Amino acid sequence: MATINSHYNKLAAGYLFPEIARRTQAFLEANPGVEVMRLGIGDTTEPLTPAVVAGLHRGVDQLADVETYTGYGDYEGTTELREALVTRYAGYGVTLDPSEIFVSDGAKPDSANIQSIFGLENVVAVQDPAYPVYVDSNVIVGRTGVCVDGQYDGLVYMSCTEENGFFPDLPEGKVDLIYLCNPNNPTGAVATKAQLRKFVDYAREHKAVVIFDAAYCAYISDPDLPRSIYEVDGAGECAIEINSFSKDIGFTGVRLGWSVVPVGLVVEGTKPGRVNALWMRRQSTMFNGASNIVQEGALAAFTEAGKRECQDTVDYYMENARRIRTALETMRIRVYGGVHAPYLWMATPRGMGSWDFFDQLLAEAHVVGTPGAGFGPGGEGYFRLSAFGHHEDVARAVESIQQNLQL
Ligand code: MLT
Repeated sequence: MATINSHYNKLAAGYLFPEIARRTQAFLEANPGVEVMRLGIGDTTEPLTPAVVAGLHRGVDQLADVETYTGYGDYEGTTELREALVTRYAGYGVTLDPSEIFVSDGAKPDSANIQSIFGLENVVAVQDPAYPVYVDSNVIVGRTGVCVDGQYDGLVYMSCTEENGFFPDLPEGKVDLIYLCNPNNPTGAVATKAQLRKFVDYAREHKAVVIFDAAYCAYISDPDLPRSIYEVDGAGECAIEINSFSKDIGFTGVRLGWSVVPVGLVVEGTKPGRVNALWMRRQSTMFNGASNIVQEGALAAFTEAGKRECQDTVDYYMENARRIRTALETMRIRVYGGVHAPYLWMATPRGMGSWDFFDQLLAEAHVVGTPGAGFGPGGEGYFRLSAFGHHEDVARAVESIQQNLQL
């Protein structure tokens, strides 16, 4: 008789964003004619830029010609795209080899799958609050016990609070895998090099691995802040970096990302190159390579025109962030983030529960956001607003919050 993977039973019933969509739909059915404004899921809204569109067209044209047609590509992505990424990292002062870069269908699957190359006995530490995929993927494979009061037994939760500027202290005991997201989803906080260095030093000392999700690095505008963990000396021995083309070139629906697994990364009992080879093994077994058309589109984002246009799109969303932040500050709401990240993290009025605030905001202002509790127990009492959206829609949402939300 077949059985299910019972670790799934430990998970909350629904993934966060489908649950928000379900509640929003229920509200709309109960309130016909009401239009809701969405500052919930971080989903891009602006069209692909001309350079990227031209790249995608080129990819299609290549498939339409017998001379240039290609079938399966390299599991790790095209050489051209990996070399373009190497050049991008060189701009941060980071030296990588194309063999250390693995192009994929997005940062979300990579964030979920990367744990599969590590033993089940590894102790995992996550920021609290955190992007839910880090926790759920470890729960599903059985690296945790059950969830009690919002915390899974066996996981180490690194508190991110107003007091520590939403950047965690080092774990007290010894942990093996540490997930860091920077700029942070959901809090919008961004780390300095000195803050990252503490984690790199810890990881080297304890032979731990930092899994560094840099999906929002394009939103950092201060040149002194690190865009990559490899800007910290020694990170190549202890860190894997995951990144995405979703939020800077608008590929949320197109799907493309990459991971860096340095050859110099070593863990207990392995020689340099072994972890890199394991990820290649995993990808070549379970993934057939990213779409050739899509990779051609991403390559075009590295041209001068592509870079300029994509920066304009990032700036466009950050103008939304500025407007939301200013409005909330005017309302005397404590708000964080939204400066080097497309997310704003606000304290709920009077410390109310974050799902209760979700209901209130929807009922009074007709605005959908994301309850902080959906990112872990440390998110309770907070609420995330996304800066993705057309200017006019975000402006309407902000105006409605200012006029209709009863504080
Ligand atoms: C979010 O809203 O947190 C993001 O859209 C999630 C994601 O990128 O998968």
